[in-house]
Amino acid sequence: MKIGIDKIGFYAPHIYLDMNQLAKSRGVEPEKFTIGIGQEKMAIAPITQDPVTLAANAALEILDEKDRKDIDFVIFGTESGIDSSKSAAVYVHDLLGLNPNSRAIEIKQACYGATAGIQMAKGHIALNPESKVLVLGSDIARYGLNTPGEATQGAGAVALVISANPRIMELEEKSVYFTNDIMDFWRPVYSDKAFVDGKLSNEQYMAFFTEVWKQYKEKTGLGLKDFEAICFHLPYTKIGLKALRTVLEEGTEDVKDRLVENYTASTDYNRIVGNIYTGSLYLSLLSLLEQKEDLAEGSRIGMFSYGSGAVGEFFTGILQPDYKDNLRVENHNTLFSSRTEVTVSEYEDIFQETLPTDGSTVKLNIDEDPASICLAGMSDNKRNYVNKMK
Ligand code: COA
Repeated sequence: MKIGIDKIGFYAPHIYLDMNQLAKSRGVEPEKFTIGIGQEKMAIAPITQDPVTLAANAALEILDEKDRKDIDFVIFGTESGIDSSKSAAVYVHDLLGLNPNSRAIEIKQACYGATAGIQMAKGHIALNPESKVLVLGSDIARYGLNTPGEATQGAGAVALVISANPRIMELEEKSVYFTNDIMDFWRPVYSDKAFVDGKLSNEQYMAFFTEVWKQYKEKTGLGLKDFEAICFHLPYTKIGLKALRTVLEEGTEDVKDRLVENYTASTDYNRIVGNIYTGSLYLSLLSLLEQKEDLAEGSRIGMFSYGSGAVGEFFTGILQPDYKDNLRVENHNTLFSSRTEVTVSEYEDIFQETLPTDGSTVKLNIDEDPASICLAGMSDNKRNYVNKMK
């Protein structure tokens, strides 16, 4: 039985910061951000969007009434979760009106969470072929104002429906995964910003890729020539290119050209959204599928997932016939073209806005947020969400 990705939805907030403006304000050459890091725009989450609403808006794009009945498992991968106990999946389950006979859980392992969710979903579908699983990767990446990580922030969510007989991509069985306890990135429960050893995280990202790629080749007998494209977890777009370059010499000139060209297409969306942590790899996959016109059905796509701390995995998928008919390119063009730019000073104000932590009541202005699902306020230490479509 084929199991894989049947639908992919995406959402990013309606405001963004131009990286050239951020560079100017931070006294660095714009090329450091646009070329050295490889980012052009950074999505900014207004206070009316949090990981729950971003994920719910991403899923809203793709779910129909049949999905709402068939989905019996919601898996929410996030590293910027809003509650240490209750899962973000339960809120999304309600906001989307899903079947009450569902499981709903949150998974955490830095940027690897959504990949863990997908692998768990595969197992669920193997046992329950009639059901579907909604896997969400949703995050707001926050390192802090004037920090080295600032240029690699972002906000957004990807929603994936995993099912039998998937219409976009069959996920192949063989996969290689690797864990090692390192302190390259972490966020203690008392902090709303991540701590990071940037240099170490870059080194470990490369080391994990080298390890899983080597093991994958040994396990499967496949090599670079068997791939139409390789998508990477992209905290910023330059890093995947560096990883890809470490293996390019294994291919002929044709293979190298193909992989570099397809890599570029796989970064278009990430370049104008920024880091969305758990969803980043899947945003890259979406970018490849929607921005590259000539990917043939049956093509094998490699995927490298990395979650600091750290867990890495290399796995693969095969594009299904007519996969293009199941994408939503127009929606995403509209989403990007209708965004509004904010100034650096507006971004700094938004970044520093906080919700009450003393149980007091606050009502947020959701009229300025075009998203269907918004955070409308807080009272009694509870977040109040609104689905404007309901
Ligand atoms: N024109 C072109 N490139 C330039 C440049 C210019 N004027 N100025 C600098 N650069 C390049 C640097 O050479 C470097 O490229 P290289 O890595 O290929 O050598 C790149 O821009 C970044 O410069 P660097 O000085 O290394 O940046 P930094 O130390 O300020 O921060 C990160 C970079 C990624 C470490 C930082 O943003 C970070 O910590 N991010 C969060 C952690 C993260 O995303 N980790 C990834 C793994 S999960």
